Amino acid sequence: MKKISVVTGGGSGIGRATSLKLAKVSNHVVIADVNEVGAKETAARIKASGGDASAIKIDVADEASVAALVQSAETKGHVETLVNCAGILQNGSRVEDMDLAEHDRIWDVNYRGTYLCCRAFGPVMASRGTGSIVNIGSIAGFEMFPLPAYSPSKAAIHQLTKVLAGDLGPRGVRVNAVAPGFVMTEALRARVEAGERDTSVMEDQKTLRRIVEPDEIADAIVFLCSNAARAITGATLPVDNGWLAGLAYNTYAGNKKN
Ligand SMILES: NC(=O)c1ccc[n+]([C@@H]2O[C@H](COP(=O)([O-])OP(=O)(O)OC[C@H]3O[C@@H](n4cnc5c(N)ncnc54)[C@H](O)[C@@H]3O)[C@@H](O)[C@H]2O)c1
Repeated sequence: MKKISVVTGGGSGIGRATSLKLAKVSNHVVIADVNEVGAKETAARIKASGGDASAIKIDVADEASVAALVQSAETKGHVETLVNCAGILQNGSRVEDMDLAEHDRIWDVNYRGTYLCCRAFGPVMASRGTGSIVNIGSIAGFEMFPLPAYSPSKAAIHQLTKVLAGDLGPRGVRVNAVAPGFVMTEALRARVEAGERDTSVMEDQKTLRRIVEPDEIADAIVFLCSNAARAITGATLPVDNGWLAGLAYNTYAGNKKN
């Protein structure tokens, strides 16, 4: 039976980078994204490099849409890997200024979308006693930024990952998360170019002194999906060039000499 990987949000950024790498270790990658053009572009790139892939338009926040994704993916083989990359970012805001419709949509896509996909694929994998799920959290889920919807939605994903690891582990399915920290995707690049982000501030805070590339997040995701991580479940792995490690260290008086 063919080994299928499903990547939500695979139409750009981290999801695309992950899809391209998973194509090398899967028989087929299903790229599921609300952005159909982006999903098709990722699938085309995989096929152009000798892999196999298909694109499907979905809204991860919609239960019927996720059910259609499961059905479509399972016609191609056995889904063994699910990566929940679909997500939306937000700009900094005071709590009282946060638009409530935007707040709810961020929760719907980031948290509910991850929840619905795990809820739909988890039991299918568990019925076969094997599978691996990787969710995408954030350093913003560990430390609070001025992102009243985004930060809590990512903290909730970290907790959901542990809940799922406990739930699905005895049935052979591992569930982990990666917590990226300031990755130079198209989305971040657009914000930098619009003057909304300052990369020098980000680089100073990272102990390795550079912005993370999408490929580096993808490498960590593919590792967590792989047999090399067979003893790892319930973990949220920061992939942040040391942003979290530098947080306290860099604010200690006198450390500026470093
Ligand atoms: N870029 C960073 O610095 C960074 C840092 C931490 C966490 N993350 C997380 O990484 C994940 C990927 O983000 P990215 O930076 O690659 O951004 P991105 O915008 O390039 O990719 C997100 C993808 O999700 C898709 N998507 C959005 N809403 C959807 C929906 N309702 N249904 C299906 N697909 C939907 C988008 O169309 C897009 O292709 C997100 O969860 C984001 O929160 C990113």
